[in-house]
Amino acid sequence: MTRLQRFRVTTCLFFAGCAFIASAQTAAPPAGGGQRRPMPPPSNLKVLPKDMTSQQVVAIMRNWEGELGVECSYCHAKDPATGRNNFASDANPMKDRARVMMKMTSTINSEYLSQLTDPKPTNDVNCGTCHRGMAKPSVFVPPPPAEHKPAPPPSPSL
Ligand code: HEC
Ligand code: HEC
Repeated sequence: MTRLQRFRVTTCLFFAGCAFIASAQTAAPPAGGGQRRPMPPPSNLKVLPKDMTSQQVVAIMRNWEGELGVECSYCHAKDPATGRNNFASDANPMKDRARVMMKMTSTINSEYLSQLTDPKPTNDVNCGTCHRGMAKPSVFVPPPPAEHKPAPPPSPSL
């Protein structure tokens, strides 16, 4: 398996079966009398497999919205002329940050998590594992040690 093939497989596993979502989206025409223009096929994929359809890409993107608690425009630049997101543009630097994150997440799973075999991990790492609905993951502060100790014995009644 090449890295990209592996990424596609794991991506589909992580992101709730993108093939299924994609086919569901294809089957259901957009409501509102065709106001939405069909999206052109992706033209600027540098990390995801280049032959992914725009429906497959958007299914992944929708998961990111929830996992990072952001909207599309957090990573995508708006076209000044139309005011709409220009998804192929790399003008928003957040997009390249997200690309680094995609490669990092893929490597964590393929090179490191995969080394745990007995037992195999129940969950792969995805964006939400760290981000938990935030664009910048918050620093984890462990609860104070006292909460781990068993309750103190009842005070002796004299
Ligand atoms: C966390 C950042 C992030 C968010 C949020 C995000 N995207 Fe993306 N998007 C990316 C990155 C990164 C790529 C390029 C992936 C690559 O290079 O393989 C991309 C690529 C795309 C593409 C393919 C464009 C092309 O022509 O190559 C589409 C379409 C797209 N996004 C739509 C969306 C939609 C719709 C949303 C909101 C539902 C969204 N994105 C939210 C980061 C994001
Ligand atoms: C192993 C933990 C981890 C995983 C997995 C992870 N991230 Fe991150 N991500 C971080 C950390 C830590 C930062 C830096 C936050 C900061 O600047 O304080 C970050 C930063 C980012 C930023 C920049 C945010 C900003 O406002 O500057 C984006 C965008 C992002 N991650 C997207 C993603 C996406 C998309 C995925 C999944 C493909 C992902 N991350 C997976 C830990 C992770």
